[in-house]
Amino acid sequence: SENPRQAQDKAHDHARGTASRSAELSVVVPTFNERDNVTVLYRRLEAVLSGIAWEVVFVDDNSPDGTWDVVRALAQRDSRVRCIRRIGRRGLSGACIEGILASSAPYAAVIDADLQHDETQLPKMLSLLASGQADLVVGSRYIEGYKSQGFNKQRAGASALATEVAKKMLRVEIADPMSGFFMVRADRFEQLAPKLSVHGFKILLDLVASANGNLRAVEVPYTFGQRQHGESKLDSMVALDFLGLVLAKFTNDAVSLRFLLFAMVGGIGLVVHLTTLFIALRLFKVPFAEAQASGAIVAMTSNFILNNFLTYRDQRLKGFALLRGLIAFYIVCSVGLLANVGVAFSVYDQEPIWWLAGMAGALMGVVWNYAMSGLFVWRK
Ligand code: GDD
Ligand code: MN
Repeated sequence: SENPRQAQDKAHDHARGTASRSAELSVVVPTFNERDNVTVLYRRLEAVLSGIAWEVVFVDDNSPDGTWDVVRALAQRDSRVRCIRRIGRRGLSGACIEGILASSAPYAAVIDADLQHDETQLPKMLSLLASGQADLVVGSRYIEGYKSQGFNKQRAGASALATEVAKKMLRVEIADPMSGFFMVRADRFEQLAPKLSVHGFKILLDLVASANGNLRAVEVPYTFGQRQHGESKLDSMVALDFLGLVLAKFTNDAVSLRFLLFAMVGGIGLVVHLTTLFIALRLFKVPFAEAQASGAIVAMTSNFILNNFLTYRDQRLKGFALLRGLIAFYIVCSVGLLANVGVAFSVYDQEPIWWLAGMAGALMGVVWNYAMSGLFVWRK
């Protein structure tokens, strides 16, 4: 039922001949190096969504293969197509969040660009939301009717295990919380969006966990297909993202995986330092001061490389920025060492317990290094 005001607006639009229906469904497609897939997906959406007021928002992280350029060409022919080209940012979850929030449509779907999801489910998903039966519809690979062609055994096993862990720890009730294929009421999404992490891949799990049971979810089975062109961006490190999300949600954001990884790398650095010291002293007969200095430099360098590879893998430095970052990291760690020693001394002064003083110093050092690295080395 339409109020008089709405009816009047419609009449106006008609009179001006601009009766463009605003979209009811916004399809959000995160892309990274998908130039050979986007046009096919667009055609399929066009075919399957006829009769629905839809639009598609591609969110491309400045793909080196120029996916955004292909999307722009589509958009020039069809105003229902949009492209958000993000520069200097990477990440599937963040891309999906931005895409959903960019639209004023009351319903938003997220679907992969690589044709592995089944776009023919979209009308059914929309009618489940529009009829008010659900706030969220998930394309599920784990319920009856599910078939998968796109997963190898290893990946399927890891995925099933992760799903179980997530369900137990976060009390998530849906069968396939790892799905990258879903449709949601935009207003409900908007309420939850501030709680969502932009890191990693697990936006749906995050959404459901953040909703704390206040999101009525329905699942539809679909066949997870084979990728046609290009390759998957989910490497083995995705497990880390997942762990981070579970940890953060489970501890109410008290513990961050990034800090744990940073501290772990610091622990490895200690081993590297001692090993280098030992080798320099015993094998190369270097005087102690020089041996200790070499140990510190080797450890800082290996810490930098490990952190760049693991802890900050989403912001990995390359080329000149890598060199700049390394130098900044040396400086940060040197000051961190001063802070470490300073704190250890003052604790030892009050309470001459060597291990307590040592631990206090080390903790000070790692907290300092972590905070300063985030500001000066892997800065956003
Ligand atoms: N904008 C953006 N930024 N898009 C990305 C990024 C990124 O950093 N990484 C990946 N994508 C896009 C890809 O271009 C693709 O359209 C989609 O996200 C999924 O990426 P894939 O690399 O194809 O992932 P997958 O097939 O291994 O895994 C997918 O399916 C799983 C099962 O449904 C993802 O949807 C997973 O989230 C999902 O669990
Ligand atoms: Mn894929």
